[in-house]
Amino acid sequence: MSIVHVPLRDRGYDIWIEPGLIGQAGSFVGRSGNFSRIALITDRTVSGLYGESVAESLREAGFQTHILTVPDGEDSKSYRELERLHTELIGAGMTRDGLIAALGGGVVGDLAGFTAATFLRGVPFIQIPTTLLAQVDSSVGGKTGINHPLGKNLVGSFHQPLMVLMDPETLKTLGRRDLWAGLAEVVKYGLIRDAGFFAFLEENLDALFRLSDETDVVRMLNTCCRIKAEVVGLDEREGGLRRILNFGHTLGHALEAATEYGYFRHGEAVVWGMRWAAWESHRQGLLAAPELERIDRLLGRLVVPPIPETVDASVLAEKTRLDKKQSARGLNLVLLERIGNTRTVRVTDLTDQIKGWLDHVRT
Ligand SMILES: NC(=O)c1ccc[n+]([C@@H]2O[C@H](COP(=O)([O-])OP(=O)(O)OC[C@H]3O[C@@H](n4cnc5c(N)ncnc54)[C@H](O)[C@@H]3O)[C@@H](O)[C@H]2O)c1
Repeated sequence: MSIVHVPLRDRGYDIWIEPGLIGQAGSFVGRSGNFSRIALITDRTVSGLYGESVAESLREAGFQTHILTVPDGEDSKSYRELERLHTELIGAGMTRDGLIAALGGGVVGDLAGFTAATFLRGVPFIQIPTTLLAQVDSSVGGKTGINHPLGKNLVGSFHQPLMVLMDPETLKTLGRRDLWAGLAEVVKYGLIRDAGFFAFLEENLDALFRLSDETDVVRMLNTCCRIKAEVVGLDEREGGLRRILNFGHTLGHALEAATEYGYFRHGEAVVWGMRWAAWESHRQGLLAAPELERIDRLLGRLVVPPIPETVDASVLAEKTRLDKKQSARGLNLVLLERIGNTRTVRVTDLTDQIKGWLDHVRT
């Protein structure tokens, strides 16, 4: 069993990583508290694959368990689904001594977490992430939320889970695009904080994609969670250090917005965002050319769709200005000094920088 502790003063928790863990959810939950009932929130696909085995394990451990299912996809992070879940929780007799369990990818984790944060002024919840992106990123750190019709993730709160149960076996049913998109966030951790891990990924990326070596997959999950836990432990509410987790996300978010969230997976857009940020780091004299080449080579191995020809630099620059992380004083852009080391710079307009890079990648 691999365990990563998230060190938050009065809300610290453990991430448990082990193949086959999903079938033992009940005994883990049983050790952490005596809950009157459990609402297992999941989406249709994940419910079909893992819903019953998790629910059965919870019931065997003595918990009255209700499965609440939402449709797959980003549209479920909505006021509509939030209200429907609240209604179902009331109907199921959920009280503050109950527990919400989020079983699924980042959509389910964000929505179920925010449902837990807002129902009865907050009920405890746990994360059982089943996509690579959710395992290495969204299930750790306590950011929960839904989308507003005017923008992604605009409504939310910090609500830390009681524990995170991670079963690498669940990745075997994941689609190829979701695996590549998750690997994008994996590479990000090497780039921002761990040059040794970056070198490990250079060696093992293809085998990790094939999920062929269980020990390496667990090592990958453990390393990503350890880095995220360290960063979140030092800066829970994104006052400073936590911003480094946004490496590649400035242009990544802009690409997602410019293509109306229907073309790229989040991680796919982040691959392009990281390639631009590395290029910009070199252009600003921070990152040496051989390091940029290594980064481009590794990121170039991740299979992602091209940037559509219709997307131009001024649209992307405009979208970065609308990013919710932009403040009145400009945008904090995370760049690289070396593989494993970041530097944050304040920028206002990025049109020229993005244009130069787009011309470069399109030639
Ligand atoms: N809270 C955070 O810190 C944070 C960080 C990054 C991203 N996010 C959010 O995460 C969301 C994206 O998450 P995602 O990429 O996991 O997408 P997702 O939750 O939409 O899952 C992608 C698809 O995979 C399916 N799926 C999930 N697990 C599966 C499995 N084991 N086998 C087969 N199919 C499976 C789902 O049903 C869904 O259709 C976005 O809404 C993003 O805003 C949140």
